[in-house]
Amino acid sequence: MPRHFLTGAELSRDELDALLDRALQMKREPLAATPLSGRAVALIFEKPSTRTRVSFEVGVRELGGQPVVLRSDEMQLSRGEPLRDTALVLSRHVAAIGVRTGEDRIVEELARHSSVPLVNMLTAGHHPCQALADLLTVREACGTLDGVRVAYVGDGNNVARSLAVLGAIAGLEIAIASPPGYSLEGSLELPEGAAGSVTLTEDAREAVRGAQAVYTDVWVSMGDEATADQRRAALSSYRIDDALLDAAAPDAFALHDLPAHPGEEITAEVLYGERQRIWDQAENRRHAQKALLELLVSP
Ligand code: CP
Repeated sequence: MPRHFLTGAELSRDELDALLDRALQMKREPLAATPLSGRAVALIFEKPSTRTRVSFEVGVRELGGQPVVLRSDEMQLSRGEPLRDTALVLSRHVAAIGVRTGEDRIVEELARHSSVPLVNMLTAGHHPCQALADLLTVREACGTLDGVRVAYVGDGNNVARSLAVLGAIAGLEIAIASPPGYSLEGSLELPEGAAGSVTLTEDAREAVRGAQAVYTDVWVSMGDEATADQRRAALSSYRIDDALLDAAAPDAFALHDLPAHPGEEITAEVLYGERQRIWDQAENRRHAQKALLELLVSP
């Protein structure tokens, strides 16, 4: 059975710790390991991407492999070929498959029929590759994840859910502040026995108290455009600015998975200033995903 990575809950705490160690090693020596030598990885994009596409494409090459980027509207999928058949055929050619799509059931169906590892590169419910980079960034900054408090302020979306799932596995203390109607309440399943904790609140200041990292995401995610005005109104006070960082732990830093909308969920002063690790976080996508791919394709 191949090992898939659909929500992040597939990893134990020890595996996640080892993966982050390995990612840091790969960051220091990006060309030292070639576990994908002579092999290809299919990367299917049904939605736009900058970071995910470039970090996977370059990362696969650094691992000695060949990325095969497929836009789903150019595949037979767009003409009705079943997900099952797509998974069966791709499995005959590539060592792993990455998928960015909408509904979670699509990656679940592809994974069911794939005989090679399937990686969720973003769905409506989850963004676990982003969370790996988030954890790597916090670990680089704090030296550990054990008991470190990370606050997330904003929409209770796929990024928040994956941060909660993987952060809890890793031993983080996560606090998520969202307005009524935008909370993860009722839709967050944490792995049994997770070492860390997740608390949900409506109060951004309460969430950031004692937090070493303060994280946010856009008010209007891909697929939410129809409700953009309502979202902007509901989320307008959920913004990272200097005052919110002042209410967190001393030397707290900002995180954002990007793309950002400066002036909405984060101020330009924070986004481009000294109190953030956002650009490191974007770079860490590549290192974390390389360590993940190595783990998944290794016998
Ligand atoms: N954070 C993230 O997934 O960025 P892209 O949408 O650019 O891939």
